[in-house]
Amino acid sequence: MSFKTVSESETTITELMIPSYANFGGKVHGGILLSLMDKVAYVCASKHSGGYCVTVAVENVEFLSPVEVGELVSMKASVNYVGNTTMIVGIRVESLQPKTGIVKHTNSSYFTMAAKDENNELTSVPGLNLQSKRELRRFCEGKLIRSFSKQKRELLKSDMIDVPLEGMIEMAAEENCTVNLIG
Ligand SMILES: CC(C)(COP(=O)(O)OP(=O)(O)OC[C@H]1O[C@@H](n2cnc3c(N)ncnc32)[C@H](O)[C@@H]1OP(=O)(O)O)[C@@H](O)C(=O)NCCC(=O)NCCS
Repeated sequence: MSFKTVSESETTITELMIPSYANFGGKVHGGILLSLMDKVAYVCASKHSGGYCVTVAVENVEFLSPVEVGELVSMKASVNYVGNTTMIVGIRVESLQPKTGIVKHTNSSYFTMAAKDENNELTSVPGLNLQSKRELRRFCEGKLIRSFSKQKRELLKSDMIDVPLEGMIEMAAEENCTVNLIG
């Protein structure tokens, strides 16, 4: 069995936020950031696995503050956890306003990437050689993320709401809606 260190695949990309990335409000589209995150996750995962990878799932995407045109967005990616054929790549996104030097942490997310061989079949990946307490903590967090994500998938697959009509009306009554059932 082979092992690789986290530093062997650690990857950072920095990109200038240009006007064509902006939405009607003048801020950078979330989708642009997601696309860059997918790219850095791919680079990091393919360095670790030594081959072709695909994105399987994305956990915890929430944009904490807006990114402006003219800012320099850096994405730091590292393999936090590996299973048999998949890797959880942690990505920290920061945005630097070059004029002021102010750096904002815009989000942190976890991309699950799977390694595939030349026949597009899943293939096993090297283990992780953990060399610091931080790497060990992230590995254990990755194990939890994987388990939470599995539980969430099971929940979403099933019928989540198993309450009678009156119960649903009661639930909805506390929310921002009006119930006018016509069918
Ligand atoms: C995701 C995928 C690899 C799962 O294939 P499968 O044969 O059903 O997989 P299995 O149930 O045997 O699990 C294989 C691995 O995937 C993981 N996995 C499967 N579904 C997952 C999900 N929804 N989220 C996270 N991990 C998942 C399993 O935990 C397992 O990991 P391990 O080998 O590290 O222990 C397969 O569905 C696939 O190739 N999807 C397309 C991915 C793709 O093309 N992405 C690009 C989008 S354009």
